[in-house]
Amino acid sequence: MTVTPHETAFALRRSRRIPGASLLAAMTTPHHVDRYLELVDPLLRVRDIRAEIVRVEHRTASAVTLTLRPTRRWSGFEAGQFVQVGVVIDGVRHTRCYSPANSATEPGVLELTVKAHVDGFVSRHLRDNAAVGQVLDLSAADGVFVLPRPRPREIVLLSGGSGITPMMSMVRTLVDENYDGNVTFVHYCAGSDDIPYRRELAELGARANVHIVYGYQGDTDQDGSAPGGTRVHGRFDGAHLDAVAPGHREAETYICGPHALTEAVRAYYRELGLEHRVHTEEFAAQAPAADPDADGQVCFARSGVRADNNGNTILEQAEAAGLSPEFGCRMGICFSCTATKKTGSTRNVRTGEIDAEPDRPVQLCISVPVGDVELDV
Ligand SMILES: Cc1cc2nc3c(=O)[nH]c(=O)nc-3n(C[C@H](O)[C@H](O)[C@H](O)COP(=O)(O)OP(=O)(O)OC[C@H]3O[C@@H](n4cnc5c(N)ncnc54)[C@H](O)[C@@H]3O)c2cc1C
Ligand code: FES
Repeated sequence: MTVTPHETAFALRRSRRIPGASLLAAMTTPHHVDRYLELVDPLLRVRDIRAEIVRVEHRTASAVTLTLRPTRRWSGFEAGQFVQVGVVIDGVRHTRCYSPANSATEPGVLELTVKAHVDGFVSRHLRDNAAVGQVLDLSAADGVFVLPRPRPREIVLLSGGSGITPMMSMVRTLVDENYDGNVTFVHYCAGSDDIPYRRELAELGARANVHIVYGYQGDTDQDGSAPGGTRVHGRFDGAHLDAVAPGHREAETYICGPHALTEAVRAYYRELGLEHRVHTEEFAAQAPAADPDADGQVCFARSGVRADNNGNTILEQAEAAGLSPEFGCRMGICFSCTATKKTGSTRNVRTGEIDAEPDRPVQLCISVPVGDVELDV
């Protein structure tokens, strides 16, 4: 039997309950965290990467910046990539994706800035409870949202809100590499109080080839104290780039932020016939439109719950039925939501592929039922 990476990932993450987690979380230096993990369970170190929190900073009211020291298996990242972070809350592991914000040239260090969402379970937990000495689960870095080599001579970075993190990593990495092309970094946010990296951006912007621009959404400059940097106002407009990045038509452009921002930027470059130069990352997926031809019933067998198939993803249908399956990214990249389909067919909304085999792992966040489906949920 062939075991797919999908099935391997499913097998590895089957057990969410971590009985020894509080013990691990209580362990601190002076030894490398690997040593403690080996004492508790020699398999832990080889099964997964772990990272110890070595610094916690609250740079804005809503965000927390964590400096992590990963275990020896950590092999670094490329600027723009993301990692999956496993956090144990009340004995249950939850997985979310975060993009390192530090320079990719720094060995053995990872800096994550997590913005707490109003209803966010993991992000609020980290903002309120993350402490030095705690240990988090970590995946290897992944993702194709990275700068090409050789580096382009003109680079434009655009971000909105929490999308600042991969851009910070890119601009810091370029500076550490002594990049001598031109980089313009435009960050859109509510105002200067909302920028977790104001001081670092001011330092970076002092270089002749690094141009920092703040795009404030409000009518005013807020407290007017944002150090350095040019300002533009209102939502993204091509005129902003004409004003602050005259070389943007020759640039490779990287954008990370809310869908409205990435769409506006893509539309602008599309009109210029330059969409192929735009590289996009979004932290939250747009929910796919419900399948208008949906029929049949979804049976969540382990929970004893049945619902009429309404054409949404199985994850959404489970949540609408009052269930709480595990999830992470909600866009098909982390496998946290994978469960066994016992019978029936599902369609992968990303690839259009139909899976009609019984007893197959399916990703609930990107699968819709095709007729009657029974799941081990
Ligand atoms: C590749 C990738 C990289 C990411 N990098 C970062 C990062 O560097 N920093 C960071 O803060 N976050 C990042 N995220 C988002 C992060 O993974 C979580 O989605 C976020 O922390 C919210 O998780 P939660 O458990 O607090 O919210 P949940 O409890 O999962 O959701 C609570 C509510 O918040 C909404 N929500 C969840 N996520 C978002 C979102 N991203 N935008 C708007 N609304 C949302 C949900 O719809 C829901 O209504 C990244 C996501 C991806 C896919
Ligand atoms: S929640 Fe990440 S793959 Fe489904």
